[in-house]
Amino acid sequence: MSLLRLAILGSGKGSNCRAILEAIRDGKLAAEVRMVAADVQEAGILQIAREFDVPAMYLPPGSYRTRLTSESEAALARLLQEAKVELVVLAGFMRVLKAPMLEAFPQRIINIHPSLLPKFPGLEAWRQALDAGATETGCTVHYVDAGVDSGEIVGQQTVPVLPNDTAETLHARIQVAERELYPQVIARFAADRA
Ligand code: GRF
Repeated sequence: MSLLRLAILGSGKGSNCRAILEAIRDGKLAAEVRMVAADVQEAGILQIAREFDVPAMYLPPGSYRTRLTSESEAALARLLQEAKVELVVLAGFMRVLKAPMLEAFPQRIINIHPSLLPKFPGLEAWRQALDAGATETGCTVHYVDAGVDSGEIVGQQTVPVLPNDTAETLHARIQVAERELYPQVIARFAADRA
């Protein structure tokens, strides 16, 4: 059986990337990670890729704060196409993808967000849930479209908000759920393709 070919993009510590690589290593996910790319040179996610012998690429971010330059995004899309990537997995990637990637990978880019979308899109979704007095929240895997956290939902996992939660404890509980949900959702993509 051939493996679902993935690329993972991130900007931070890479705990979701690690969970995906561990699921592959443990035979729970019939996929291979062709490349991990990050727009932050010292991001933990690049270290994790190296630890798992996956090609790790630094994407020079250019002058914008919230997106890549068109040129660097187009170069990334070409590279991922050359690597025959089938599914692009965003795992804490802090830049909004635009036409070059969205057109190269239509309905083939997914993201994980720390709330039960459509509730609490945007930054620090766990804090938004706490501030709103929600009694439960969670995480969502969704397709990436031109909006922010607005694409079609592929999977969700709920976590309780406990009476004494701080932003930190709630965020940590959501991240545990993310590390379960993301490999499971990607395994569904792998199964559908097979
Ligand atoms: C995750 O918590 C995810 O919800 C958000 O970014 C975070 C990335 O964490 N989109 P990590 O780099 O995978 O540890």
